[in-house]
Amino acid sequence: MTTIPEQRTTTGAHTGGRNLLLDPGMDLTLRPMRYPRFFDRFRDAIRNTWTVEEVDLHSDLADLGKLSAAERHLVSRLVAFFATGDTIVANNLVLNLYQHINSPEGRLYLSRQLFEEAVHVQFYLNLLDTYVPDERERFEAFAAVENIPSIARKAEFCFRWIDSVFELRELRTREDRRAFLLNLICFAACIEGLFFYGAFAYVYFLRSRGLLHGLASGTNWVFRDESMHMAFAFDVVETVRAEEPDLFNAELEQQVRDMLAEAVECEAQFAEDLLEQGVSGMSLSDMREYLQHVADRRLAVLGIAPMYGSRNPFAFMELQDVQELSNFFERRVSAYQVGVAGSVSFDDDF
Ligand SMILES: [Fe+2]
Ligand SMILES: [Fe+2]
Repeated sequence: MTTIPEQRTTTGAHTGGRNLLLDPGMDLTLRPMRYPRFFDRFRDAIRNTWTVEEVDLHSDLADLGKLSAAERHLVSRLVAFFATGDTIVANNLVLNLYQHINSPEGRLYLSRQLFEEAVHVQFYLNLLDTYVPDERERFEAFAAVENIPSIARKAEFCFRWIDSVFELRELRTREDRRAFLLNLICFAACIEGLFFYGAFAYVYFLRSRGLLHGLASGTNWVFRDESMHMAFAFDVVETVRAEEPDLFNAELEQQVRDMLAEAVECEAQFAEDLLEQGVSGMSLSDMREYLQHVADRRLAVLGIAPMYGSRNPFAFMELQDVQELSNFFERRVSAYQVGVAGSVSFDDDF
């Protein structure tokens, strides 16, 4: 087991020779490369480039007119969540993740992720501009983190975890490092990996009813990006675990379980809000089971036993995981492969 003194010097901070991934400093050395898998993630992400202009949301306008009152309520809550979700994630990336992942190739990936989050922000801005023509209603959607209780609760959860490490300039103690790991795991497993996955489930449910194909087509690309963001974050966790196994103690595991359980409750409350008028074909209990199933999958990736043992009740999400992304993947590779060498990995575990 690696023994880490409580206070490390920053000697070697720029050479990348002997430091650990979470050691303070600004490693600048790409050769020899310490973490080639981070660089591979960066190159894979470049292959997934897409632009908001490629998504035609206007085809959804006719569908919006066909929705029942209950479905309209669901969609308006959903777009209010999307209005600010990716901006929150991007802020944590810059304020916390980039600061402490001391690897130039890791920071390359985070730079790319930041660009993708910006594209997501632009996509959802376009979604709101298209779906919510009334300026006042749009303003309200952007203020949902303050005014709509089910969204405010999720935002409070995110902000609390951003704040949990915001004051840390360097990860010097074991506690600092565990706090950072919890922030990283929170954003990957609970926010990108659960809040967003929950939101995507509504989109694909609507598509399974023949509705809002424009939104679903853009969501395919966001979904794939989010899967990659999670995969990178879990790579970082795995790397830190190999370098500093003592950080992963029973207390940390319990904190991860508690955090995911709270995220499931937040998202279940959001589901109660979305489905409160009774949307035919999607029950609250199915949604809760789906969220529990997703939470268990996040725990499995982290090597932690499942909490719920729930199955996935949504066949349309199983399809999403495999078929739709494969189709998307093939299309995009043919469109963007020029000039990029090497193999592309495709994670269908998510
Ligand atoms: Fe995103
Ligand atoms: Fe993301």
